[in-house]
Amino acid sequence: MTHMHVAGSIHADATSPAPQWLTRPEDVNALTKELWSNNAKRIESGELEIAGRTAASIIDEVGSPVYVIDEADFRSRARQWREAFGDWQVFYAGKSFLCTTVARWISEEGLGLDVCTGGELAVALRGGMDPARIGMHGNNKSDDELRAALAAGVGRIIVDSAHEITRLERLCAELDTVAEVMIRVTTGVEAHTHEYIATAHEDQKFGFSINGGAALVALVRSHHSPHLHLRGVHSHIGSQIFDTNGFEVAARRTLKLIAQFKEATGTELRELDLGGGFGISYVKEDTPATPEELAAGLRSIVEHECRGFGLQVPVMSVEPGRAICGPAGTALYTVGTVKTVEIGSGQSRRYISVDGGMSDNIRPALYAAEYSATLANRASAAGPVLSRVVGKHCEGGDILVRDEFLPDDVAPGDLIAIPAAGAYSRSMASNYNHVPRPPVVAVADGRITTLLRRETLDDLLALDAGA
Ligand SMILES: Cc1ncc(COP(=O)(O)O)c(C=O)c1O
Repeated sequence: MTHMHVAGSIHADATSPAPQWLTRPEDVNALTKELWSNNAKRIESGELEIAGRTAASIIDEVGSPVYVIDEADFRSRARQWREAFGDWQVFYAGKSFLCTTVARWISEEGLGLDVCTGGELAVALRGGMDPARIGMHGNNKSDDELRAALAAGVGRIIVDSAHEITRLERLCAELDTVAEVMIRVTTGVEAHTHEYIATAHEDQKFGFSINGGAALVALVRSHHSPHLHLRGVHSHIGSQIFDTNGFEVAARRTLKLIAQFKEATGTELRELDLGGGFGISYVKEDTPATPEELAAGLRSIVEHECRGFGLQVPVMSVEPGRAICGPAGTALYTVGTVKTVEIGSGQSRRYISVDGGMSDNIRPALYAAEYSATLANRASAAGPVLSRVVGKHCEGGDILVRDEFLPDDVAPGDLIAIPAAGAYSRSMASNYNHVPRPPVVAVADGRITTLLRRETLDDLLALDAGA
């Protein structure tokens, strides 16, 4: 549960450029089950198959690169979260990956959906999501975005600033409506991977500080506003969290705030959202808790804290994103060039360049995120070589997989698959270097359905108002 991510060769031991956590595999073709979607496997021919389709046949049909979502896997994770949390509400965090089909799956599996912009809201509504089950986040929602949320009748607007309260009050008066709101608070807990730091994190843009008193002021103000219906408190502590320690502190501080609010107003707030950020296995050293373990842990923490503060247990909710869509998604790329680079002290590194990169997955460049990779179109009898999978962009930091052992004979035309790539990859994609964004397809029982089509040069040129 406590794998510390160590990025890059600066952390390597003196004799190897590999990071300490990465071990040379006995079988370079073996897939580590926890990293892959449930219906991914290496078949007898040696090829990677996802939900009944080989990597090569997917690329033959839709081109390369491509993001592949194992639909049954996605749905079963959504269901698992809903079932594990029982009477707690589970909102899928749409920012991790959203398109209309995903909104439909989430709706069909009985979850709620979080959006954080007008664009995400439009996709959720177009996908048929019941507005009452939508939560609207965002630290700088515009008038238009708030108007759209109010007009749609979203179930909860998570308010992030005093200016937003004023803005919402004005818009509600204008539209003669009442907004359902939660107040986003900063608990003083910032969790990243398994760490949490008790103070530094106040210095960030989201929410009202509990420590500084702004949270209580915002709650009291919203409570007294004729234009707002205050439902409760919202907290989100970070990302890629492997255990419940950070949530324990967040639950204690938010419930203490609810107790203080009760003392100040005589009213007990009935809703508490503990946010998302539940970790997944990107590399085999990652050992996240299961939804069942998390649900049991969080439930007992909240019940214990409520007893301590003399409160009823509120209506609780959580917002997993990557834990649902991350493992369900695999990125498939085609190798274009391979180089071996001398890196000093007699060491070398294999650079494998593929036909995508930081424009379709910015996470390694943005925050040194780690991924794994495998050769997808065949099994290889060659030995494992420490490799770096890089993209086609004009940036040295254009890295997709910083460190992985791949077969010594990987060559142009081979296919590389990156597991656990469904979250914050295509959803954060850009057109850097005017590279069109790849498509996202769902595969189920051997059938491919396009969720997002491939962008074309015509799409890019259509935005260009010049000649
Ligand atoms: C408010 C909020 N909820 C939920 C999430 C989802 O996080 P994850 O996809 O890591 O579960 C995020 C991510 O940034 C968030 O900001």
